[in-house]
Amino acid sequence: MRFLITGGAGFIGSHLAERLLARGDRVVLLDNLSTGCMDNIRHLKASGLMEYHLDNIENRQLVAELVDDADVVVHLAAAVGVKLIVESPVHTIETNVNGTQMVLEAACKKRKRVLIASTSEVYGKNTCVPFHEDADLVLGPTTKGRWSYAASKALDEFLALSYWKEKKLPVIVVRLFNTVGPRQTGRYGMVLPNFVKEALDNRPIHVYGDGKQSRCFCDVRDTVEALIRLMDTDRAIGEVVNVGNTEEISIEGLAQLVKQRTRSSSPIEFIPYDQAYEPGFEDMMRRVPSVEKLHDLTGFRPQTTLSEIIDRVAAFFQEKNESSTPRAATTSVV
Ligand SMILES: NC(=O)c1ccc[n+]([C@@H]2O[C@H](COP(=O)([O-])OP(=O)(O)OC[C@H]3O[C@@H](n4cnc5c(N)ncnc54)[C@H](O)[C@@H]3O)[C@@H](O)[C@H]2O)c1
Repeated sequence: MRFLITGGAGFIGSHLAERLLARGDRVVLLDNLSTGCMDNIRHLKASGLMEYHLDNIENRQLVAELVDDADVVVHLAAAVGVKLIVESPVHTIETNVNGTQMVLEAACKKRKRVLIASTSEVYGKNTCVPFHEDADLVLGPTTKGRWSYAASKALDEFLALSYWKEKKLPVIVVRLFNTVGPRQTGRYGMVLPNFVKEALDNRPIHVYGDGKQSRCFCDVRDTVEALIRLMDTDRAIGEVVNVGNTEEISIEGLAQLVKQRTRSSSPIEFIPYDQAYEPGFEDMMRRVPSVEKLHDLTGFRPQTTLSEIIDRVAAFFQEKNESSTPRAATTSVV
């Protein structure tokens, strides 16, 4: 099989490419390296089965050509990360909406199977956890830039599902919950890599808000396994499916666990949201996926424990010796 992965030099894209190459598939990556990097994919070049294009998802002609040559398209390219979203809402909306539109339009001409990456952020301020795929999406006001990410991804979902309903384009929409693992950068406000780097350096671990907000963290290997199984499942077509781990932890609890796993002496410091982002920043208290639909469709439930994930991330940074960049950590908006 030949896969086109947009955003393939990113965190999840590079892990997906690695898995597909290992099973003998051909992989074409399209990435503009805005948040991804060559370091993520350099080791994959040796396989001889990978091709990459450093270009923009909004290059209509290139996207059309690459989609033409692919059997399956995995659309991961997006503006991601809370800092980026709060600071550049125009970029977020344009990248996420135009990019998805470009991919769907090209795929529709040749009826190619497409997986679209959405996010748990679309559940917004809904408090009925665990979140089921048919739950209401409760977004905040348009005056708060942070909601532009969720709204842009929700629009992507509507568009993808409309292509399925109206034009029979085989689409699968996946709502990813916090995904973590080696190669994820903390540069754009992702919580776990930042906590681990701070802990390894024995610097203060910065928790935004009161730390009582909780999240579930899924190992990227589990996420990739779920994506591959969903792409191989005809019953997933036209569906929206949560992908995430169900082990819930508060952000303060995460800071403590990171400290413990890395044997760090870092103090834990709390920073109000207003200072961390912008006045009036809104966060969600809990975000827990229901993974019953994923299990029903694929027989798979992500299960890597958080301790194991933290150990893997710490080992990655120690190997890369990346633990020296001072950064503040946040509750990820991804
Ligand atoms: N990591 C998570 O926890 C998480 C959670 C929910 C949803 N997602 C979704 O999963 C996808 C992958 O996220 P990730 O965590 O790997 O982030 P990432 O930033 O590592 O990957 C995104 C990739 O897209 C590329 N990109 C961005 N804009 C582009 C453009 N205009 N043209 C071409 N390439 C472009 C970036 O360079 C990057 O390599 C995204 O769609 C994201 O919204 C991720």
